[in-house]
Amino acid sequence: MRHDEQMTVIKINAITVPADSGDELAHRFAARAGAVDNADGFEGFELLKPTDGREQWLVLTRWRDEESFQAWLNSESFAHGHRTAAERRGESGPPPVATHSEVWSYVSAGGSSPG
Ligand code: HEM
Repeated sequence: MRHDEQMTVIKINAITVPADSGDELAHRFAARAGAVDNADGFEGFELLKPTDGREQWLVLTRWRDEESFQAWLNSESFAHGHRTAAERRGESGPPPVATHSEVWSYVSAGGSSPG
């Protein structure tokens, strides 16, 4: 890691979803997957599904820096993307499938990959 470069920040949204709602969560993400692609500083995200019986799904997102993440969080695009289609039409939408969520902040502190 060179010290003169900004370090990618990793923001993980840990979403608690009852086991029987997981498919619906995945479906909702698939419907919105491209919505964040044009955000300044966005470097990608992955939706991680638990395979060990946990109810926490992880949305692992990468950003150029803290500022670009905060700017997206405060953007109309984020607010819009986190409203259901029905709510956007002014109706009350289907309830969220998440019962709890929290954001975890990380930076890489080392690692390796093959090749
Ligand atoms: C770290 C960044 C993120 C934060 C802080 C965040 C925040 C949240 C919160 C609080 C929820 C639960 C509330 C709810 O169920 O509506 C949620 C759900 C969701 N988020 Fe995010 N989110 C993030 C990243 C993303 C990304 C990158 C996408 C995809 C473009 C996305 C799409 C969704 C979808 C589809 C749901 C399910 C909502 C539903 O049940 O209809 N989120 N997010």
